[in-house]
Amino acid sequence: MALQASFLPSALSPHKEGKVGGGIKDSAFLGTSLSDHVKSDLNCSLLRCGKRLNASVGVRAQTAAAAAAATASPAIERATPEGKKTLRKGNVVITGASSGLGLATAKALGETGKWNVVMACRDFLKAERAAKAAGMSEGSYKIMHLDLASLESVRQFVGNFRLSGMPLDVLVCNAAVYLPTAREPTYTADGFEMSVGINHLGHFLLARELLEDLKASDYPSTRLIIVGSITGNTNTLAGNVPPKANLGDMRGLAAGLNGVKGSTMIDGGEFDGAKAYKDSKVCNMLMMQEFHRRYHEETGITFASLYPGCIATTGLFREHIPLFRLLFPPFQKYITKGFVSEDEAGKRLAQVVSDPSLTKSGVYWSWNKNSASFENQLSEEASDPEKARRVWEISEKLVGLV
Ligand SMILES: NC(=O)c1ccc[n+]([C@@H]2O[C@H](COP(=O)([O-])OP(=O)(O)OC[C@H]3O[C@@H](n4cnc5c(N)ncnc54)[C@H](OP(=O)(O)O)[C@@H]3O)[C@@H](O)[C@H]2O)c1
Repeated sequence: MALQASFLPSALSPHKEGKVGGGIKDSAFLGTSLSDHVKSDLNCSLLRCGKRLNASVGVRAQTAAAAAAATASPAIERATPEGKKTLRKGNVVITGASSGLGLATAKALGETGKWNVVMACRDFLKAERAAKAAGMSEGSYKIMHLDLASLESVRQFVGNFRLSGMPLDVLVCNAAVYLPTAREPTYTADGFEMSVGINHLGHFLLARELLEDLKASDYPSTRLIIVGSITGNTNTLAGNVPPKANLGDMRGLAAGLNGVKGSTMIDGGEFDGAKAYKDSKVCNMLMMQEFHRRYHEETGITFASLYPGCIATTGLFREHIPLFRLLFPPFQKYITKGFVSEDEAGKRLAQVVSDPSLTKSGVYWSWNKNSASFENQLSEEASDPEKARRVWEISEKLVGLV
């Protein structure tokens, strides 16, 4: 903790008036501290013990090699226990596939030759250039416009996707913005604070709309994956770096996050871009569980979330101060050892999309230092069923579903 609290971040903190600025509080942030790693491993061992004691606690740890092999061989051309069988390629929609984790995942899946990847991106040309620069083969992907900062765009995307005639087998809600240095809130087209508007509300509407398409799929394993983060989990050291995620009584969310009827923050507090990101990630992880509770039994769809590791080089940090962007990757690589390359993180997410052994629903996946996946524990808030229900109900009003 001392390491995390005293090293890089405070030195990089751009000061905000009246409060600690977007420095350590947000900077240590996406990181995994040394202790987090120990904790991850400890969690893993404890879970393994739990499995021996109680067969109902499932832990799927596997070697990196086995995981890579599984990723390369998704569950097609074979029957599932439910008797579904298909000979076709899988179709996966990945939001925010124009950079970072989304791009690396699109590439990893495309390279297997077993997936058609729909890159759902707000900037068509950027996505096309990124796919080409990553060496993705033509025919392995298709780019479709989606701006999660506009509910109208989300609805148009759903309409366009349906017009394409492709079945939907897996949806990955990956796109996000992180605005740690913003002094003032910015807003989506519908007037929601930007981080929660894009990361949570846009994805919530998208996932709710495309649920019908997932239900209609004949693919052996259909999945809805929402990318989470360690930073929203206050049961980790990284999640305890101020400002901590906290949805409070959700008065700001209920008032529409627009700063007019109420606060721009979910908990009703003063705007803080770093906290808004973390709160949005809590919503992402809560939504995954609420989908699971409401729809898994009825539909067989696997609902999952994950923390892919600290991918310190991605565009997520583009709004941060230059010194932070320079020092954060070596800090994560050599000091906390929490660093994960974009390629490695992409393989991890691709596993959650395609690995036949990762079909358990309601799970938040993480990876230990040997790159073996395991079911991680969410914080009390990020696993609170009552909060999940309230976020669901308020969100469906905000996006016009009820
Ligand atoms: N990096 C990490 O250490 C880390 C750790 C834990 C979790 N994560 C999660 O991983 C996911 C991907 O992040 P990343 O690190 O890969 O960051 P990234 O490289 O910045 O990727 C974010 C993607 O989201 C897209 N996006 C942003 N706003 C959008 C909008 N309004 N509509 C549609 N797409 C939009 C971006 O599009 P443009 O290219 O057009 O900007 C970009 O493709 C996020 O959910 C993040 O929370 C990251």
